[in-house]
Formats: sequence, structure tokens, C-alpha cells
Amino acid sequence: MPDAYILGIESSCDETAAAVVRSGEQLVSNVVASQIATHKPYGGVVPELASREHLRAIVPVVRQALAGANRTYDSIDAIAVTQGPGLAGALLVGISYAKALAFALEKPLIAVNHLEGHIHAVLLEERQKGNRELEFPLLALVVSGGHTHLYLASEQDASWTYENIGHTRDDAAGEAFDKVARLLGLGYPGGPIIDRLSPYGDSGAVKFPAAQIKHRDRRGRHDGKAVSPSDNRPRFDFSYSGIKTAILRYIESNQMQESIEARRKALVEMPKPKLEDYRAHSDQLTLDLVASFQRAIIEDLVGKTLKAAAAYDVATLFVTGGVAANQELRQTFERESRQQGLPVYFPSRPLSTDNAAMIAAAAYPKFLVNDFAPMDFSAEAGMPLR
Ligand code: KG4
Ligand code: ZN
Repeated sequence: MPDAYILGIESSCDETAAAVVRSGEQLVSNVVASQIATHKPYGGVVPELASREHLRAIVPVVRQALAGANRTYDSIDAIAVTQGPGLAGALLVGISYAKALAFALEKPLIAVNHLEGHIHAVLLEERQKGNRELEFPLLALVVSGGHTHLYLASEQDASWTYENIGHTRDDAAGEAFDKVARLLGLGYPGGPIIDRLSPYGDSGAVKFPAAQIKHRDRRGRHDGKAVSPSDNRPRFDFSYSGIKTAILRYIESNQMQESIEARRKALVEMPKPKLEDYRAHSDQLTLDLVASFQRAIIEDLVGKTLKAAAAYDVATLFVTGGVAANQELRQTFERESRQQGLPVYFPSRPLSTDNAAMIAAAAYPKFLVNDFAPMDFSAEAGMPLR
């Protein structure tokens, strides 16, 4: 099989990204234009602004990815684009542009699930390091701003399938990081800030009750299949809205509101606050709260994932998505997986958060079996992964 150069395009949320990947195993170029500055004043992603920013960025970002790869539009073998899940308006920008390119250049078009992309970010980097010996069954925790999912992944004749064995019932883990940072006046996005501040607090200072998930999910399985009585495979669901409420109560009972407001105002004035700025504006009570929150989320994520790994007797664990960039999460997974004798793999930090290299990598197995998208396919905001 000759080399295949796939151009990936990703625009599902607040990053406009394009990348060129060779045969699913070599990252040739990777460009990510972040919209953080646009959404920061609102404390979260504003969908209309996201679409507008994608429209502005998409052409130069793709051009830059091709230039970085020393490739012309014509020398690309296929164009891959995120179909969902994500913000419909944001997805449509990437999809429309990918379709236009595919039509004009007469190249095949490949539609990719964003969550599958996060899983293939790990595969891409492992192959790049020369590691082709991953053992199955494989369990992947995809943990980001929009998702907290556990998937059993299998590969047959180069084609991948996934079974969801756990998902969040309410907030995603990254969303909890972002909401708690906002409650504490720490700005947006919250994950990286909480990650960097946590080492300065006492993670045992505040105890949070463990999330209680009593009954089966009545909304049905996340993969869209109906729940049947015979469907008694063990599930490992998550819930992170309770901890956010507990923090709100802690703030009120410790009368932290005034100092939070002062911090929010001070930080918002700074164009690019540094770690020292965050520290200078955080008292010990806040640092302890931040560290305790992070510890609680990590214990829950690691605990449930490793329980799931044991229940399904998996041989390999992947941890991927924006929250997988978290330092303490990585260390905890590494330590506890080792104790369980389970090899764990993460993407590098740049490929943990949203990027298009993962989309181009996930498209390669589809390219091999001519699994191309029709020109009239559309965005699927709630797209399940199967
Ligand atoms: O994968 P991603 O870029 O976008 C989605 O698909 O959602 O993930 C973004 C999320 C945000 O919620 C952000 O706060 C979180 O990942 N995040 C982190 C870290 N870096 C990003 N959470 C914890 N620690 C980090 N270092
Ligand atoms: Zn993502």
C-alpha cells in the first residue's frame, strides 16, 4: 500500500484545526487556532461566536497545515472532517469547507466521529514511536469538556468498532473543571488553571461525598441502542454535577464571595495571567479547595476506569481528551494502572486537546476500505460512537 497523505479538518467546538497525517502513523503537520481569547469574557464557549471564528480561521489554517507538510492541495490523497459530536454551527463550517475542497480537487471525503479521533490520537503517536503491538481488549477513557466516556474498542480487518460501557449522567469532567474555575473567579478554561494551581493546595483539606449513581440510565444506552432486559453488561457511569453544588455551598458557608469577586476582577484585567498572578490572587482556602476538587475528580475517574478495566479484563488502557492533559491525572493513572499490571497510554499534551491530526489518523482505516462520505452528509451534533 503506497503512502496516503490525509488532510484532517476539525471544527467541532472552539478550536479550528487542520493537519496532515501520513498513513495513520506519522504526524506531518498540525495547526490549531484556539478561540479561547474570544470566549474568555463569557466564561465559556458561545456557539454563534465559535461559528464566526471558524469561518475566519478555516482557510488560513488549512493553508498553513499544507504548507507545513510541504504539500499542495493536489498532492493530498483524501480529506477527513469531523462530523460530530459538537456544536452544529461549528461543525458545519468544517464540513462545508471539506466538501468544497473534496469536490473541487476530486478527492475522497471521509467523515470522522470526534470521539473516535481522540482515541486515534493515542494510536497515531504509539505507531509513530514504533509501537504496533497494542493488545486487545482495549479500553479507552475519553475525558474532555464535552465528554466522559468509556469505550471498549476492537479492530477487525482494519475497521474499528466501539462499545460504550460508561458515560456521564450530567456534566463532563472537563465541564466540571471549567464550571468550578468560573465559580472561583479563576477564568476560562478552568482545567489548565486548576491543574497548575493544585500542587499549591492540600488535596485532603476538603472532603466531597462520592457521586451516587443508583438506578439505571433511563435515557437508554449512549450508543443509541435501546436498553433490553438481557443487556446486563456492567456499566460504569459518572456524575459531576454534585461536586459543583458542593463547592458552591462551601463558598457560601466560608463566605468566600467577596474575595472571589476581587480575584475575578483582577484577573480579567490581565491579558495573559501567569501562574504567579493566579497564585498571588488565591488564598490558602481557595488553593486547598481547588486541590481537593481536582483530587476528588481524579479519584473518581481513575477508580471507575480501573474497575471497568478489571470487569472487562482489558489488556490495554487509553486515556485521552482535553482532561488527559492533566498532570495529576496522568500520574495517578500511571501509578494505579501499574499496580493492576495494566499498560496505560496517553496522547502527548498537544494531541490531548482538540486537534485535526486525530481526525486524519482516525480516517486512515476508513480510507483503506473506501469508506467515503457522500457529498450530502451533514453535521450530527449528538453523534454516538459505535
Ligand atoms: O478535548 P477538548 O479540547 O475539547 C472537547 O472535546 O471538549 O477538551 C477541553 C476540556 C476543557 O474542559 C478544559 O478545561 C479541559 O479539557 N482541560 C483540562 C486540562 N487541559 C484542558 N482539564 C484538566 N487539566 C488540564 N490540564
Ligand atoms: Zn475533544
